[in-house]
Amino acid sequence: MKTPRLIQIARDDPAAIRRELLAGLSAPTARIAPKYLYDALGSRLFAAITELPEYYPTRTEAAIFSRESAAMAVALGPVATLVDLGAGNCEKAARLFDAFQVQRYVAVDISAGYLRTSLENLQRQHPAMDMLGVGLDFSTELRLPAEVGDGPLTLFYPGSSIGNFTPEEAQAFLRQAHAACRGGALLIGVDLLKPVEILEPAYDDPLGVTAAFNRNMLLHLNRLAGTDFEVDEWRHVAFFNAKASRIEMHLEALCDLGVSWVGGERRFAAGERMHTENSYKWRSDDFAALLERAGFTRLRRWTDAGQWFAVFAAFA
Ligand code: AVI
Repeated sequence: MKTPRLIQIARDDPAAIRRELLAGLSAPTARIAPKYLYDALGSRLFAAITELPEYYPTRTEAAIFSRESAAMAVALGPVATLVDLGAGNCEKAARLFDAFQVQRYVAVDISAGYLRTSLENLQRQHPAMDMLGVGLDFSTELRLPAEVGDGPLTLFYPGSSIGNFTPEEAQAFLRQAHAACRGGALLIGVDLLKPVEILEPAYDDPLGVTAAFNRNMLLHLNRLAGTDFEVDEWRHVAFFNAKASRIEMHLEALCDLGVSWVGGERRFAAGERMHTENSYKWRSDDFAALLERAGFTRLRRWTDAGQWFAVFAAFA
């Protein structure tokens, strides 16, 4: 049996992370990048969100993959190397290995350590497959290391994580993906625009799981930046901003309060908000145009009956 190889690309040092967080916290409208929602507890809370009846994206996308994987396999041809961007527990990609005849699997996530157990388990099920785990934060730049090897790559970016980028960031990311796949392809999941009555409960569920996910960011900030946020002084706010076509998540101060850290502090008035995440909802044709502007051609798209979610295959 082969053994998965793991490599970690240098991460920002704690002082740089602290500087970035404190700059965001001190901005006129405080904002923190959504990647800080995902400490160990945040990742578990996100997994719980995907089980909620109101959070439709995960199950809608999974149904598209299970119904259309044969058609996708025909479109893509045999996949020499599948590069899973934001692999997590690697389950979504693993379900496609057989249909896509994957020969080599590269799982990319922020920490190679998170990938170890998932890859070891997967290797037992696919003993002859080459597996590589890459710890890399590709949210600002997608540059794959030389260990990924030569030849065209099939990039896999499911879950509508692209929705957490602004359209400008998404365009830049897709351009980088176009270069990174070296004449290969991109398979990407995108959440589509739909009525507000469906969108808002998906981000503000009655059980309060999404609220816990959002408020947990404060505990993560306390650890990373040495702040003294009190979680019970903040409430979760999520709404659809129709003009920008995005769900916005904020944390709102419940009273006048102060947050301090070594060397600084910030006051928040009751009702003042800190912006923690955008989740853009695309029109299918607009997303196709974005892919084409990034240099991709021969687009294929698969969707569900309600047109809630789309999976695109795009070729470099
Ligand atoms: C990871 N990302 C695609 C999720 C989304 O739907 O934007 C994150 C999330 N935020 C709140 N609920 C889920």
